[in-house]
Order: sequence, then structure tokens, then C-alpha cells
Amino acid sequence: MLISHRLTAFLVTSVFVELVASQQIWDVWQTTRNRTNLFKSNKRSSALTFVDAAASTSANFIVQDLKINQPVVGFGGSLTDSSAQLFHELKVKNAESYWNLLNYLFSPVEDANAAGLSYIRVPLGASDFSARRYTYDDVDGDTCLNDFDMNYTPSYVYSVLNDIQSVNSMMKVHLVPWSPPGWMKSSGTMNGGSLKSEHVELYAWYLFKALQGFKAKGIFPYAVSVQNEVLNNDSTKPTARFSVSTEGEVGRFLKGLMRNNGLHATKLIGYNHNWDNADKHPVQLMQTAGDAFDGVAFHCYAGSASQQDSFRKSFPNKEIYFTECSGIQGSDWWSDIKKFMDQIILGSINHNAQVALMWNLALDGNGNPRLSGSNTACGNAGCRGVVTINSDGSWVANQEFYALAQISKGTIPRDINGPGARRLGVSIDGSLKEKFSVGAYVTYRTKSTDQLRYSLVVLNMNDGNNDPVTATIQFRDKRVSFSFPVGVTTLWWYAKSVTKRP
Ligand SMILES: *[C@@H]1O[C@H](CO)[C@@H](O)[C@H](O)[C@H]1NC(C)=O
Ligand SMILES: *[C@@H]1O[C@H](CO)[C@@H](O)[C@H](O)[C@H]1NC(C)=O
Repeated sequence: MLISHRLTAFLVTSVFVELVASQQIWDVWQTTRNRTNLFKSNKRSSALTFVDAAASTSANFIVQDLKINQPVVGFGGSLTDSSAQLFHELKVKNAESYWNLLNYLFSPVEDANAAGLSYIRVPLGASDFSARRYTYDDVDGDTCLNDFDMNYTPSYVYSVLNDIQSVNSMMKVHLVPWSPPGWMKSSGTMNGGSLKSEHVELYAWYLFKALQGFKAKGIFPYAVSVQNEVLNNDSTKPTARFSVSTEGEVGRFLKGLMRNNGLHATKLIGYNHNWDNADKHPVQLMQTAGDAFDGVAFHCYAGSASQQDSFRKSFPNKEIYFTECSGIQGSDWWSDIKKFMDQIILGSINHNAQVALMWNLALDGNGNPRLSGSNTACGNAGCRGVVTINSDGSWVANQEFYALAQISKGTIPRDINGPGARRLGVSIDGSLKEKFSVGAYVTYRTKSTDQLRYSLVVLNMNDGNNDPVTATIQFRDKRVSFSFPVGVTTLWWYAKSVTKRP
């Protein structure tokens, strides 16, 4: 009798301990307004445990773990020729500093002091951040593409990409041209104009050969686009206007070639331009060529993230990407953190984007190097990279980095090469709810017996007096209290799944 009582007590206790232990916060990463914490791991020495407790009257974040939304695939920026050149020069000058930087940006290792960025856009040919204007075939009238050669791109683009892949085996690469070859266009140059109608099929072949070329260099394309910024016609830099019908026709041909040649898994993503036309070109593209395009990508330079909803309303099953926003040299650090988190990154993801990227991964302190003769991007001040690489072999992470790192850390696969994250529903109650922007995510596991990672990214904008706000996080009817400093906090806990993996 006594023994069985003890046994029952033991069993009850151990079940209780396991349930409680499954909902504890140990991992906390923070970037604070006063910059005492810059993407800093503040791992707890004692756990915070979810218990029966009242909700904070200031802010209570209610995680809706049954409301499972879109996959969250990755965060990052573009490896332009200019970015690759700076990375390469750093490698030559100071290899240790180079590898430290690549690890800090891309390593997906759980406890590493690293952001685990895992989505990169790579221009096909020159962009306005290149040493010269070129495509893979600049021989006038070469309609058999005899002169097609991937090695017109500087070799450092491929070697840096290969190095990045060696740091993060989960890196996803999205290939995007800034212009077709000039001889295929009405303008006769890469600058502005549009694709000639007689070259629609040829241009699809050109893009297909570029996909094969990347594959041959060990870089499998996760996604490809027909054109960057289809509405941009700038006579000083590589750009091209694509009508809905021309983009659709090229996409159809290209997708056909991809399907028949082992590239069916590569996604075709259209539009790649600003939010303000979300209900026009992107919607019309799906109406005319929805069989070929998997989704569309947006940029930040006009409109707002909520306009992604007008596309989604028309095509709820198509994918949404957010692929470009640049910081500007000399702007205010904290204003940028607030804007990048609230309006750009959490903003686009909360409106169903699967990825969120800034523009150049690296530039120097003046927003160079840039293509000669091209109009200044980002106004006279110049663009700012995710990191700044200086000519003396030093580098510095910018506000773009901290904004990306804070969300990347909480959403990268918990198991290397394992399953990814999904966005969860989350709402905020309390008197200070307007001062917060928040995202909640679940990350699945390779082994079905492993607990899922539930993470929260919280931007506290209550910067009037700069005091931290004591808020509560609510999960499955239990709550935990946490003091959120002004800035960004990413934290997570583990719990058993109560639903099937979508
Ligand atoms: C691009 O701009 C140029 C110069 O303003 C103009 O002549 C041309 O018609 C435009 N092309 C397209 C396709 O809009
Ligand atoms: C910066 O903010 C953090 C979080 O509120 C605080 O702990 C730290 O003491 C502050 N540092 C300075 C130098 O004010």
C-alpha cells in the first residue's frame, strides 16, 4: 500500500515536472535602443516558467498556437557584385576577419553568436552595384546563345557564394536579372527600355541556361525571377520594363523548360517591385500566367506592407516574398530599427511574406562601389549595406543586420537541414499595446518526439521615458512575466505539439 502510494506520488510528480519543464524560457537575444545589447545572448541562469498568473495590464501577448499561418523561409539580403567584391577583398586582406564575418551573418548553429541568415538574392548579370555593365551574352544578335558564358560574372561572386554555403548548408539562393542583354531590348542597352517581342522565347532560354549554370557551380536555385522591378525604366542603369503579358509569356516558356529539365522544384517569382501596385501587375500576372508563377515579390520604396493583402485576397494560394529595402547612409539608428522591424520585416511577414530581405549584404561606408554612370540610389547619401566593410579589413554590422538577426535567430530551423518555421497568430492586450509590434512562430523538428520551438519577437517602441515594460506572454492559458527593454527582444520556449504539422 505504502509503496504503491509512493509510486503514484512519484508518477504524478514526474508528469507534473515534465509538463512544467516543457514551458520555460531560457533563451533570450536582445538589441536595445541604448546599444548596450547588440544582438546579444542574455541566456538566463534560471528559467522563467509559464504559470497560472494574471495578465499584465500594460501588455499581454497572446500566442495563438492553433492559428498556423505561412512558412517562414528565411531572412537576408542581396549578394550584388559589389558586395561580393568587398567580401572577396576582405578575404584577401584578412582571412580570419572574413570568416568571422561570414559566420556572424550566416551560421545556423543553435548557440552560436550568429544570425543564421539563410536567404540570398543574386543578380543575374550586372545591377547598379557592379563594376561594369554585362550579361552572360553581350554579342549582338547571337540568337543561338553561342557566346553564352556564366564567367562574365566576376569569379568572386561564385567563390563567396560557395563560402557562404559552406557556413550555412541551408542557404537558399534566389536568382534575379536586372535586365536582359541590351541587344534583346528596344533600348539596345541594359539601361531602360523593354524586351523586344521577337526575343521572348530566346530570353526564356537565356534564363534557363543561367539556372543550369548556377547548378553546375554547385548552387541550386531555390527561386528565379524574369526581371527585377518590372515597372522601373531608368536610362542610367540596368533596368527593363515588362508588361504583364511579356513577363507572363517569358515565365511560361521558362517554367516549361525548368519542368522538363530537373528544375521543377525551383520557384518562379514575379513582379519584384513596390507595394503600391500590389493589386495591379501582380494580380494580373497571376490571372494570365498563374500556372507558371509560384508567387510574387515586393519592394518597400512605395506603398506599405499591408498592401500585400490585396494580392493575397485575389490569390490566397500563391506565395508572397519581400525581397528589397535599402537603408540610407547617415540615418538615425533607433528610428531605423523601429521602421525596419515594425514596417518592413515584422510588417511584411505579418502580411504573409515567407522571406524578408534588405538590399546589399555589404557596401563600404560611402555606399560604394557602384556602377559608373548610374543615378545615385538612395539619394545623394548613398545606400547602406547590411554590413559595412572598410578598406582596412575591419567591418561593422549595421541596423539592417540587427533587425534581420533578431527575427532570423527565432525562426531558423532548430535542427540543421531540418524543418522550418511557421508564423502563428498573436494578439496584444493592455494599455501600451500600441507601443509594441510582435511576431510569433513555431519551428518544427526532425524527430517527431522532440518538442517544438515557440518563439516571440517583440519590438518595444515605448521610448518616451525609456523604461522597460513588464509584460506577460500567454501560451495555452498559462502566463510568464518578462521585462522588455526599449528595443527588440527575441525569446523562445519548447512545448509538445498539439496539432499535426501542416
Ligand atoms: C523608358 O524611358 C524612355 C526615356 O524616358 C522612354 O523613351 C521609353 O519609351 C520608356 N520605355 C518604356 C518601355 O516605358
Ligand atoms: C541599456 O538598457 C538596458 C535595458 O533597459 C539596461 O539594462 C542597461 O543598464 C542600459 N545601459 C545603459 C548604459 O544605460
